[in-house]
Amino acid sequence: MRLILLGPPGAGKGTQAQRLVEKYGIPQLSTGDMLRAAVKAGTEVGQRAEAVMNAGKLVSDDIVNAIVSERIDAADCANGFILDGYPRTLVQADAVEEMLKNKNMDLDVVIELQVDDEVLVDRISGRFSCASCGTVYHDTTKQPAQEGVCDKCGSTEFKRRSDDQPDKVWTRLQAYYKETSPLIGYYHAKGLLKSVDGLQSIDDVARSMDAILDAV
Ligand code: AP5
Repeated sequence: MRLILLGPPGAGKGTQAQRLVEKYGIPQLSTGDMLRAAVKAGTEVGQRAEAVMNAGKLVSDDIVNAIVSERIDAADCANGFILDGYPRTLVQADAVEEMLKNKNMDLDVVIELQVDDEVLVDRISGRFSCASCGTVYHDTTKQPAQEGVCDKCGSTEFKRRSDDQPDKVWTRLQAYYKETSPLIGYYHAKGLLKSVDGLQSIDDVARSMDAILDAV
């Protein structure tokens, strides 16, 4: 199974991808996570990406295309993968098509999560995640079962993202509408697009996605 999760910042892509990893045993390839790891490690890519990410803008196509192309060659991607937050521009969409063709792989489906802007800002400003395993939580909609303890790994350390302040969120939304939303038409034209109401509860979004994936 090879799928793309498409949607604005805070739509729930990462939340649903983490669940699909468990269900299908395929990896989540989040370009945001990969870039944050590069920033933390202080690599050349990280140094080039840091200021752009903190400003809420998009990192250059060349950088993200290269990291994804390398990542999907890894053994754990042999049975499929979930692209979370990639592609994000038409140039990236063309690149992924070429990349998969060269590797004799097909894309099964693109799932778009639809969420209103006001809800996105609320979701992002309430988000926090486990500093150890990355499980995503929210101040009101998804707290750990035991306060202060990660459900998945038991860590008691949590973190918030530096690009999650409201002023940065609006820049990220603008980048989405300007550069990423054209991909909705792009994948619709290819017959790959399925849309899900991302305003539903996390469990209901998961059920809607399962119905789509069961039919793939
Ligand atoms: P990235 O890390 O990809 O961030 P994003 O796309 O802005 O998406 P988010 O991670 O903010 O949101 P999400 O949809 O995963 O939501 P989540 O599940 O966490 O990118 C960060 C930056 O990296 C970019 O700005 C850019 O600079 C750079 N970058 C990354 N990829 C790039 C690329 N391809 N090209 C160029 N630059 C790139 O959910 C949010 C919150 O809501 C959580 O707290 C969650 O618990 C809650 N929630 C989720 N679903 C629900 C629900 N149904 N109901 C109630 N609450 C919910």
